[in-house]
Amino acid sequence: MNFPKVLIQWYLQNKRDLPWRNDTNPYTIWLSEIMLQQTRVAQGLPYFLRFTESFPTVFDLANADEEDVLKLWQGLGYYSRARNLHKTAKQIAFELNGEFPKTYSALLHLKGIGEYTAGAIASFAYNENVPVVDGNVYRVLSRYFDVETDIASAGAKKEFTQLAVALLPKGQANLFNQAIMEFGALQCVPKNPDCGNCVFNGSCLALQKKKVTQLPVKSKK
Ligand code: ADE
Repeated sequence: MNFPKVLIQWYLQNKRDLPWRNDTNPYTIWLSEIMLQQTRVAQGLPYFLRFTESFPTVFDLANADEEDVLKLWQGLGYYSRARNLHKTAKQIAFELNGEFPKTYSALLHLKGIGEYTAGAIASFAYNENVPVVDGNVYRVLSRYFDVETDIASAGAKKEFTQLAVALLPKGQANLFNQAIMEFGALQCVPKNPDCGNCVFNGSCLALQKKKVTQLPVKSKK
């Protein structure tokens, strides 16, 4: 079974049509990823649409009053995300002439942009060959490959990142990363996944070993 190939095929047939997927603008991709941290797509989508309408470019966001930015964020919670977003927009607009850094490692230097967000921007906007590793990715990979590593442990991120890197099909990081996140969001869901109706039901190790409900392993801290 060619996992990446089947996953991408599944994605092309089942993906939701989401606005940030229809362009490769690093600014809107960045906005969507910050908004969707700790927030479901259904909840975040209207905020994304209002935000990009009010602040279509990084300059519009940088020049806005913080009060107006927070007002548009109202209801999404985790307001530090909005404050950091605004700060970083100023950094990009005024120190970098509005140009987003063009590589994963350069993106990491920006305030509030960690490995996940840098990976998302670099792969979705520039198709750079880097992985994204979020909760969806932990769940899909731990089940498909029967990985029992505690996802709350110190080494988990590194282990799953290495696995994701090994799977990334060259030149298709954009598709593969979107696909694995969407697969985790729609098919390989945390509770009661419909494994009888899954493209991987002949090859998923967790399903073969009847361990789907036990994976991923996450210790309570
Ligand atoms: N959740 C976080 N990032 C996402 C994305 N790019 N598409 C769909 N859901 C997401």
